[in-house]
Amino acid sequence: MKHMLTIVGARPQFVKAAVVSKAFLEAGIGEDIVHTGQHYDANMSAIFWDELGIPEPKFNLGVGSGTHGLQTAAMIEGIENLLLSQSYDGVLVYGDTNSTLAAAIAASKLQVPIVHVEAGLRSYNRNMPEEINRVVTDHLSTLLFCSSQTGVDNLKNEGITQGVLVSGDVMHDAVHVFLPVAEKKVTARLFGESDFVLATIHRPSNTDALDKLQEIVSAFGKLPMPVIWPVHPRNKKALEKLNLPSNVDLREPFSYLEMLLALKKCYTVITDSGGLQKEAYWSEKPCITLRQETEWVETLEGGWNQLVWQPSQLEQAFGKRPSSPNNQNLYGDGKAASFIAQEVQRL
Ligand code: UD1
Repeated sequence: MKHMLTIVGARPQFVKAAVVSKAFLEAGIGEDIVHTGQHYDANMSAIFWDELGIPEPKFNLGVGSGTHGLQTAAMIEGIENLLLSQSYDGVLVYGDTNSTLAAAIAASKLQVPIVHVEAGLRSYNRNMPEEINRVVTDHLSTLLFCSSQTGVDNLKNEGITQGVLVSGDVMHDAVHVFLPVAEKKVTARLFGESDFVLATIHRPSNTDALDKLQEIVSAFGKLPMPVIWPVHPRNKKALEKLNLPSNVDLREPFSYLEMLLALKKCYTVITDSGGLQKEAYWSEKPCITLRQETEWVETLEGGWNQLVWQPSQLEQAFGKRPSSPNNQNLYGDGKAASFIAQEVQRL
């Protein structure tokens, strides 16, 4: 029986683990989960574990916030200790966070095979910490699961061809599993009666400079409906300093189930998150991405996702609707997790 060490630490990774850990259990793969503690507020972490029924983490490193170096170093040390104390067939990492990078560095030095789920994504913008995390992790990985052919092509351009597979996207699996649960458990009253925009903004490129954040908020003020914005804790203080238009409705972070229902009920999504761009697509909602580039290039087809960098152009983009049908199988058929489990068996 294979025995894996899985590393999670930030919100989107809990969602991915919910479906992959279940597939591992069904495939008879043993798994110890490590929570690095990168996200620690109850509404950024505990609620996801409760709601999604993820097996309890066996280890919690309790790393918390800090500079990138401090945070990543503490995680490397913690994960290295775990890998030295017990032998594992592989280390599973998700996406592009500092937790992903830390695990990849610790495992590679001890020659433990690394399985990277959501491999091959590139923004080609090295100002994003996530881009650095992705590039390094992919170059250290043994098995690389890509959400689409784009990932395979990106990896090939960097000379990575061994162990690369298209699995589809495990976040699509999660929507299939959890949307019916959200429809039963979450009250639609949370979102009011009228059409609304669902907004999430937390990338440093949009939020670290107050002027930029004020421009975004003011552009929201020109939209003809409420803008419901569950706020990432890293942005709370900055938002308190700004002039907020009356249609901007700041909320505490949503749980995953609340987010799925918000996606179903909203008119349009405005975001700089990676995951939400795909979730908007699967929810058949147009998305405006407040960034210069996206890793999820397929979502741009047919105008389902539009890139807007200048907040002054938001209003114009808001007026456009998609021009071609929504292809639900853009990132696989919602069965990525069981494919990944099958392949991990062969590690
Ligand atoms: C991280 C990931 C990003 C992912 C996002 C999902 C990196 C480099 N980035 O960004 O890819 O899209 O998670 O949410 O790993 N904070 C709290 N409470 C928490 C967590 C964070 O207050 O529970 C605050 C802290 O002030 C912290 C800041 O948020 O310093 C940033 O958190 P961090 O984990 O470093 O990165 P994110 O911006 O959340």
